[in-house]
Amino acid sequence: MATAELSAPSPQLTARPRTGQRTQALSRIPGFYRLGIDARHSELKDRFNLSDEEVRCLANADELGLGRADKMVENCVGVFGLPIGLGLNLRLNGRDWPVPMVVEEPSVVAAVSNSCRIVRASGGFEGDADPGIMIGQVQVLDIPDLNAAVRALHTHHDRILATANAVAPNMVKRGGGAIDTEVRVFKEPQPMVVLHLLIDCCEAMGANAVNGMAEGVAPLVAELTGGRVVLRILSNLADRRRARAHCRIPEHLLTTGDYDGAEVAQGIVDAYLLAHVDPYRAATHNKGVMNGIDAVAIATGNDWRGIEAGAHAFAARSGRYTSLTRWWREDGHLCGSIDVPMAVGVVGGSTQVHPAIRVVHKIMGRPSAQELATLMAAIGLAQNMGALKALASEGIQRGHMTLHARSVALAAGADEAEVGEVAARLVRLGTIKLDAAQDLLAQIRQ
Ligand code: MEV
Repeated sequence: MATAELSAPSPQLTARPRTGQRTQALSRIPGFYRLGIDARHSELKDRFNLSDEEVRCLANADELGLGRADKMVENCVGVFGLPIGLGLNLRLNGRDWPVPMVVEEPSVVAAVSNSCRIVRASGGFEGDADPGIMIGQVQVLDIPDLNAAVRALHTHHDRILATANAVAPNMVKRGGGAIDTEVRVFKEPQPMVVLHLLIDCCEAMGANAVNGMAEGVAPLVAELTGGRVVLRILSNLADRRRARAHCRIPEHLLTTGDYDGAEVAQGIVDAYLLAHVDPYRAATHNKGVMNGIDAVAIATGNDWRGIEAGAHAFAARSGRYTSLTRWWREDGHLCGSIDVPMAVGVVGGSTQVHPAIRVVHKIMGRPSAQELATLMAAIGLAQNMGALKALASEGIQRGHMTLHARSVALAAGADEAEVGEVAARLVRLGTIKLDAAQDLLAQIRQ
């Protein structure tokens, strides 16, 4: 048990994710993007052993069904669909990971697959994640004697843990539960003591268990401190549950069009340095990182708002908001790294309810929570690399526009066979507008 006055993030326990069974190149599917949807489904069935029923769960947005949806939220009036794209080429810790991503923005899946292809050619990403330790906060006000309250919380550390663990016996049976406490003291703007319960949530994200335990210890904390307990809730700044990934790419692999690899590498480093010093750029830089992380969080049924909150709070931990990633050049290589809170689970919540999420976990080879966290950190780094590489060379708009043109062509009524042609003509025209797409479609059909 520790006492801190406005403590900084503390050193982390790290554990390498367990090595998986699958070694086949399951994330490398050359030409996947050129296939029609039916052919992509056949590919999924073959590679990931999906049944027709499982493919249907992915393909039909209404597979969740109003009945289930109605039990998930209040005042339910419908079910909302978003595309699931398969992020390809990810190699992490010597293993292939296909990465389903749910996202509405064109170019996110393409960019991540492209970055992962380059990193794969350099041996892939390495990474690791902490065990599933979340923090539950119990805030105490109106304490007659702050020092005595802190002493009492220290003295009764074991009793507090036992009280917390009595609330979640199943988590304890699975090898988790409350494992430690910390006491934080705030003198301003009013005297407060905040008890942190450190809880190992194992394979679950654990929000409900953490909140339940924080509520469960509240009467004891009030008794020990003589104060009034107010908040009893988890912290989304999950800085005990971080994931890290890094990559090291020979610069020649970054050559793009007219730009040689060393130029692109320097451009990526220059772009990163702005995010490092400037919160205005860091916000956009980290938005790009979270494009990838959120898309996997949604696909796997995780709370992406919590992950977002944790990531941004962590990015501001020094007192100045900064980049979540780092990029530097070393011996002819571009090196990148990310370190980010990653509160994700693979059991509980919507992971068991949503039929498409169950299939997503099967495609991914049913990762453990630590494996999923590591993979998401790598995807965030890859996404960031894709954005910086485009920004440092031809600019972001060209790739975006090609993909945007496809959406506009679809909106104009083009069918699967017509979309490519309408999109290409729109790009050549330099006007990606609905009426232009409708005109082009009419010309093609004539
Ligand atoms: C767009 O969704 C994300 C980017 O703005 C990220 C970045 O600028 O690094 C391209």
